Amino acid sequence: MAHYLVTGGAGFIGSNFVHQLVRETDHSVTVLDKLTYAGNRASLDGLPAERVELVVGDICDAALVDKLTADADVVVHFAAESHNDNSLNDPSPFIDTNLVGTFTLLEAARKHDKRYHHISTDEVYGDLELDDPERFHETTPYNPSSPYSSTKAGSDLLVRAWVRSFGVKATISNCSNNYGPRQHVEKFIPRQITNLIDGVHPKLYGAGLNVRDWIHVDDHNSAVRRIIEAGTIGETYLIGADGEKNNKEVVELILRLMGESPDAYEHVNDRPGHDLRYAIDSTKLRTELGWQPQYRDFESGLAATIDWYRANEDWWRPMKEATEAKYAKTGQ
Ligand code: NAD
Ligand code: DAU
Repeated sequence: MAHYLVTGGAGFIGSNFVHQLVRETDHSVTVLDKLTYAGNRASLDGLPAERVELVVGDICDAALVDKLTADADVVVHFAAESHNDNSLNDPSPFIDTNLVGTFTLLEAARKHDKRYHHISTDEVYGDLELDDPERFHETTPYNPSSPYSSTKAGSDLLVRAWVRSFGVKATISNCSNNYGPRQHVEKFIPRQITNLIDGVHPKLYGAGLNVRDWIHVDDHNSAVRRIIEAGTIGETYLIGADGEKNNKEVVELILRLMGESPDAYEHVNDRPGHDLRYAIDSTKLRTELGWQPQYRDFESGLAATIDWYRANEDWWRPMKEATEAKYAKTGQ
């Protein structure tokens, strides 16, 4: 039985990680989360108080991070400013949280000699052409496009340097686009589901031909747990589930699953610098660590996600209006 420090554990992927850890292990968890607009205390509802504690605080607070790291066996770092569109409107919090926050955690992991796992994104590799037979792999050169992805790339490089220079016991994972319960309604899939619940047409950026490589959040988290258990220190692992789809296909599927006509969407302004395609080759994770995704059918995973948003309006309703007001300013 180990004690985990999970940063960003009140966000989308981090909260699903904590729920999975409680469900499937005997470990205990301290969540460190600033509860920004993206964090939600309710995402930790139903978890046993004797095993999960929420500390509301900033990963840039060195004294707090030092204390919590000293008490932990493993640090799993999910906390980030995570949304590309926000990074285009105001990059400043991305620099603080994604770069300074990661630096702060690495210094604590170094001082207390703790196992550290760094959660990152496939966006650090830039994008691919639609017809490129290549996919991203662990040795693809870094080429990030947005303020968000460049700060995530910078944070990965800090981890690599702290491993090599100071011997920090770290691993890194770079995952593709996640879907599932408890994702903020600013993100593509929950935005369209909650729009439809509200009788509003889904919004496609540009022509809708950009491709994302979808993975269920529980598969992302089972891969992270496998890397923590069996990964080689200093290594990077790509996490993906062969889920490439273009945005138009995803919107059409959501419309069909929600009983609407598949062409009942509208095109809105494109994202500046919009990455065209992401695609993950997760051979290393599968062959070296024996990991496999459990959600192999995107349609049934999406249907369950739609059911979750229908059943949990109390969770998302408070954030919907402010999110749409933000998009209205950029014509999206
Ligand atoms: P999210 O925005 O839903 O959650 C981020 C959490 O971090 C929130 O709870 C927020 O309150 C917290 N946080 C932000 N700044 C903080 C700070 N300074 N101190 C403490 N807590 C802070 O994000 P997510 O989608 O769950 O992403 C989690 C991680 O996974 C991120 O590192 C992201 O880059 C990475 N990732 C996300 C995806 C995806 O599809 N969403 C894919 C690959 C990797
Ligand atoms: O690839 C991993 C990344 O996936 C993570 O690192 C990020 O944290 C996560 O936010 C996600 O980034 P994207 O920019 O790909 O996700 P987003 O949900 O913002 O958009 C997905 C696609 O859908 C993208 O091509 C933009 C498009 N889109 C988005 C919204 C919100 C639309 O067409 N309409 C929309 O309303």
